[in-house]
Amino acid sequence: MNKTESSPLKQSNRARSSRPPGPKGTPAMGVMRDFNRDHLGFIERAQREYGDVVWMRFLYVPAIFLYHPDDVEYVLVTNPKNFIKSMSLRSNFFQRLVGNGLLTSQGEEWKRARRLSQPAFHRERVASYASVMVDYTRRLTAKWQAGETRDTHTDMMRLTLEIVVQCLFSADVSRDVDQVGETLKELVKPFASQATLKWILDNRLPTPAHLRFHRLAKKIDNVVYRIIAEHRRSGKDKGDLLSTLLAARDEDGSQMSDRQLRDEVMTLFLAGHETTALTLAWSWYLLGTNPESEQRFHDEVDDVLGGRAATAADLPRLKFTEQIAKESMRLYPPAYGLGREAIDDCEIGGYHVPAGTQVFMFQWATQRDPRFYEEPLSFHPERWTEDFIERLPKYAYFPFGGGPRACIGASFAMMEIILCLATIGQKFRLELVADHPVSILPAMSLRPKDGIKVVVRSR
Ligand code: HEM
Repeated sequence: MNKTESSPLKQSNRARSSRPPGPKGTPAMGVMRDFNRDHLGFIERAQREYGDVVWMRFLYVPAIFLYHPDDVEYVLVTNPKNFIKSMSLRSNFFQRLVGNGLLTSQGEEWKRARRLSQPAFHRERVASYASVMVDYTRRLTAKWQAGETRDTHTDMMRLTLEIVVQCLFSADVSRDVDQVGETLKELVKPFASQATLKWILDNRLPTPAHLRFHRLAKKIDNVVYRIIAEHRRSGKDKGDLLSTLLAARDEDGSQMSDRQLRDEVMTLFLAGHETTALTLAWSWYLLGTNPESEQRFHDEVDDVLGGRAATAADLPRLKFTEQIAKESMRLYPPAYGLGREAIDDCEIGGYHVPAGTQVFMFQWATQRDPRFYEEPLSFHPERWTEDFIERLPKYAYFPFGGGPRACIGASFAMMEIILCLATIGQKFRLELVADHPVSILPAMSLRPKDGIKVVVRSR
């Protein structure tokens, strides 16, 4: 099928310009309670019961859920100018955390920030971080003892945090790395809760938790501003992301202010470490439950690396490892949903959508849809052939979003995931602890609720 054509699988015969069907919930709350009780179950049920476009209300706020790739493509790629980020991302909480960084800014301000940030993510620049990724992974595994039990989610979180801090600021600020890492970990703790939305919306209240949040935000600001000042003073390109952002000039010669730099640095922290850690953690879980794939993975790593440290040059040959990363993000997309708000009235999937409607799209649902994936709930990394990718409707798979607001760190993340998997898989097999139940906590991202316990086996 030509990817630009509308998919024939799409539901037809909709009453044009009417409101889509959907659950009513209660008069005061709309569907808020049902959604909060079980995010993923609610998302799946809504599609099963009402189809590809579902209307509902959260308190007083109207929302639609979109499940079809063509409708996702419409919002992200065809008509992105008619959508801003959804209400929750524009909250006071996010403002304090990441200000007007790339993830949250809009319009001209976002365009300029994206232009200025782009050089930091150019192919060669990203490739230069490969050695940081491999070194830090080796440093982590050097402490592992064969036979010990570890929580691989915790390990992967620590690893990706160290990597992103290192890539942002470079080694000569290592005295700050621990402090930044620790403070950041505390700061983003509210993200771990399923009541995140409520916490975020209540952010102005002087509860002890909120006061603590603002205290930590101030603490991290101080460190980040100091590092920016030191980088500015030195005037050298230290090869890190911050140096690239500092050097970036717009067409009119203007550069980022300290405030902007701070916002971008915080955004890269936030967007760049947990997502990658989750892909790694879920990949270990999936490999642990699929011995054939695990064997093939180890064979590839041995074959390509033959015992030496991985480099960026190995990436094209670590094909199966890349397929594992892709399949892992299909089944457990770290960002399991995307939100937007319609600026003007528009039509989506044949329905009239009024301005102000919150529009949600779910990687969780669309990437498990049997219309697009055979055996959608099974882990089949080998499905990701070029031929399959060519046939797949483009937005049946969107772990990194799409269109102008697509993830700027996608190639950084893919490289990190592949190199970390290969470096660990070279030496170890992670065997799942049989009686440790693994379940999902859909907070801001898709986390394993009680971690993923593994026994480390030498290879
Ligand atoms: C597996 C890892 C990752 C996943 C699944 C992921 C996913 C996403 C998604 C879905 C978006 C789009 C959000 C939206 O449209 O509302 C996004 C945006 C973004 N991501 Fe990532 N991301 C990952 C890793 C990274 C890394 C490593 C970095 C940076 C080092 C990064 C930085 C960003 C930034 C700055 C944006 C905002 C881009 C813009 O709006 O211009 N991400 N990411």
